Amino acid sequence: MTAKILDGKAIAQELRESIRAEVDAQVAKGQNPPGLAVILVGEDPASQVYVRNKKIACEKAGFNDVSMVLPADTTEEQLLAEIDTLNARDDVHGIIVQLPVPDHIDPEKIIERIDPKKDVDGFHAYNMGRLATRMPGLAPCTPHGVMTMLEKTGIPLRGLDAVVVGASNIVGVPMALELLNARATVTVCHSATKDLAQKVSEADLVVVGVGIPNMVKGEWIKDGAIVVDVGINRLDDGTLCGDVEYDVAKEKASWITPVPGGVGPMTIATLMQNTLQAAYAQS
Ligand code: GUN
Repeated sequence: MTAKILDGKAIAQELRESIRAEVDAQVAKGQNPPGLAVILVGEDPASQVYVRNKKIACEKAGFNDVSMVLPADTTEEQLLAEIDTLNARDDVHGIIVQLPVPDHIDPEKIIERIDPKKDVDGFHAYNMGRLATRMPGLAPCTPHGVMTMLEKTGIPLRGLDAVVVGASNIVGVPMALELLNARATVTVCHSATKDLAQKVSEADLVVVGVGIPNMVKGEWIKDGAIVVDVGINRLDDGTLCGDVEYDVAKEKASWITPVPGGVGPMTIATLMQNTLQAAYAQS
């Protein structure tokens, strides 16, 4: 079997166009556009690329872009004070602090300081708790974007055996919750999992987010499985690759995400969707 492509890029484009149309309609009625503050602390090159992409998406969506770059030696207190200021601003509906932050800053403390209504990353314990209890809230962008992509592609999830590889707060844990809420049977694998190959080989759906190039081998994939690769890794020769051995996996899977052009665009489109949702909730 050769897999069909889960076209995150096209689905994200469609989503972003519908968001832009909604923003234009709101602005035409005299309302302010949604405002998004993206804070980058320091000069991590990968983070600079992610933040630039978020900024571009923000402008294309017609949002008010309130991004800021703070020096690497910004103290935790200064960053918390910046968040307090943004929490109080009526024209800012979403706030995200790009991770990782420099070592002298505690990311948990930063995330907890963002007003949960403005936590468009969905990382605050309040929003994670809402997701865990199936209540409406702001859901983490990457897993929620994966769900939108699968839904728009017409792939039913109820009853599937799903394996999530990676148990991070950004991807693995909220992904498992989203899939559980969609009535899949979910196994979460991590660095202490005994036999990863065996777990993956039993999955109808595999979602991988570990940040290790080609870590999940193509031969582990069950015939006809759906493969979602969240990883984006830059190799020494400058090329990008995912966490799944794509060339082999695509010959076994029924559906697979490309890297780039799969999950990445969905993450950014979902950030825009969350910001619009946050703006509605605050108006
Ligand atoms: N670093 C890697 N992914 C993310 C993300 O989705 N949001 C933030 N704020 N930082 C990240």
